[in-house]
Amino acid sequence: MASRVEANQRIARLSAHLYPSNLQMEDSSGMRRANCRAKGGAPGFKVAILGAAGGIGQPLAMLMKMNPLVSVLHLYDVVNAPGVTADISHMDTGAVVRGFLGQPQLDNALTGMDLVIIPAGVPRKPGMTRDDLFKINAGIVRTLCEGIARCCPKAIVNLISNPVNSTVPIAAEVFKKAGTYDPKRLLGVTMLDVVRANTFVAEVLGLDPREVDVPVVGGHSGVTILPLLSQVKPPCSFTQEETEYLTDRIQNGGTEVVEAKAGAGSATLSMAYAAVKFADACLRGLRGDAGIVECSFVASQVTELPFFATKVRLGRNGAEEIYQLGPLNEYERAGLEKAKRELAGSIQKGISFISK
Ligand code: NAD
Ligand code: LMR
Repeated sequence: MASRVEANQRIARLSAHLYPSNLQMEDSSGMRRANCRAKGGAPGFKVAILGAAGGIGQPLAMLMKMNPLVSVLHLYDVVNAPGVTADISHMDTGAVVRGFLGQPQLDNALTGMDLVIIPAGVPRKPGMTRDDLFKINAGIVRTLCEGIARCCPKAIVNLISNPVNSTVPIAAEVFKKAGTYDPKRLLGVTMLDVVRANTFVAEVLGLDPREVDVPVVGGHSGVTILPLLSQVKPPCSFTQEETEYLTDRIQNGGTEVVEAKAGAGSATLSMAYAAVKFADACLRGLRGDAGIVECSFVASQVTELPFFATKVRLGRNGAEEIYQLGPLNEYERAGLEKAKRELAGSIQKGISFISK
């Protein structure tokens, strides 16, 4: 009679043959997860992360697995998705985790999703601008958005991949071509600028950063990142020196991290935190919670540009209301003009990439 070990090996071989794309591992008793009675899956939203094995993707996946609003979490990447999925799936939180590896599994990763978060693409090294990433990341974002248009055209999209000022227009053009574009559902993630602004302003004021709210408008690169220090809550005032220090530090926060990491990439942990803060706000909006307001780079009529970051109200359909800039001081008005000049070129570059 075959030993228990041999029997288990046979079951494992048979199972691997029958389920070649099943990324969930067998346990030592030979029992497959599909045989377990508990199927998991509390009520909640279905979320996919594209680029889930990367520097942002991994901590983002971990934090989304901890989010009680998430019932299903799909982790897609072109490398190492099985490892990250196996690891995250052992966390004893509600969301069921499934992994998807490579282009042939993109459609399965996306089908049925309510929210798709995209941190796929290459990060900066010292000396590079975000625009230097365009060549590689534009194509990655195009392919992933074509998948979204095919498989989950109604999903809310949170786009993190840089240069955000160009990748959001790229995504919009892909969705237009596919006939699925809904501007309310496409959101460029600029939350890290707000997170940094809250932190740096709190340091200057000697406050708890959780009590500080700094609107950051414009875009997500250099001078296009425009903190509105005249609208900080709680109301406060800054000297000219403080205003210049804070504006410069907020605009160059990304470069500060890129240089400190010295070739090992850009912000990942603070970005994962910011991405989860923003995704959670989107999910609360989808659930129908009232008064969910965050900054995001969206299709907009606030300025003459077709896209602009401002505060938006998040609801069941995504960015349901886009707020005006509010009163700006002279320093901010000058900053706005600079931001718009740079943004115009980046937006056009994204549009032309698809429409040429
Ligand atoms: P990373 O290199 O560590 O990870 C990127 C991941 O994307 C990798 O796992 C890679 O395999 C994956 N990937 C590459 N091509 C893919 C494809 N076609 N489909 C799916 N996955 C693919 O980089 P990172 O540090 O995680 O940064 C990712 C992106 O986020 C960069 O473009 C970076 O500039 C950007 N970023 C944006 C913000 C923001 O505030 N919006 C902040 C930080 C970083
Ligand atoms: C950031 O702001 O940290 C990101 O956009 C990454 C980068 O390249 O700076």
